[in-house]
Amino acid sequence: MNSTVGVGSVLSILHDQHMRTRELLHHVADSSGPERRRAFDALRRLLAVHEAAEDFVLRPAARMAVPRPIVLARIGEERQATDTLERLELLDLASRAFREGFLAFTVTLLSHMWHEETHEWLPLETSWSEEQQLTLGARLRRAFGRDPAGAGPAGEIELTGFRPSPVFGALFQEAVDRLAESRPGNGASGYFEIATAGARVCARTLPDRAAR
Ligand SMILES: [Fe+2]
Ligand SMILES: [Fe+2]
Repeated sequence: MNSTVGVGSVLSILHDQHMRTRELLHHVADSSGPERRRAFDALRRLLAVHEAAEDFVLRPAARMAVPRPIVLARIGEERQATDTLERLELLDLASRAFREGFLAFTVTLLSHMWHEETHEWLPLETSWSEEQQLTLGARLRRAFGRDPAGAGPAGEIELTGFRPSPVFGALFQEAVDRLAESRPGNGASGYFEIATAGARVCARTLPDRAAR
């Protein structure tokens, strides 16, 4: 998708992240031992970066182009996926419970990504200018590095300086902090309008930061 603007646009970056997410979902399911752990951690980091980018960059900028009910439906799907992910974080990755839970998580996430690409992103491709798409894309690159979709061998993501954590809420908070630091000097209206899934996650896992 998004062939009209291409490399560096916000939709291109988010699409690359979706593709990377699909790869990592397969990698976690098909691997075992330390390799599964690395792939699962890479997936958690990527989802934290991606969810923060959607909540705090894409959706505030897209609120005039995408009907609110569509956005709320996507946020509901993200909450469901996050709930499942947080339960998976507590499990032994070699356990049957993890395998079964991860399968359900995969189904939820694949469906959610298809809905976003179809109902959220396609309208933005036509309603946003090339300059707008590239400006928002540059923001993600400032926050998360040269390759915000993550690259590297064996499903590892090279997001410079990203602190490891066993808790998704902490990863998400770091991603939000990075986006806040990357905010242009003139401010972005509506930046914190949609505090949705992230705020809920942080309220549960990072109570000392929830009030920020
Ligand atoms: Fe999403
Ligand atoms: Fe997404």
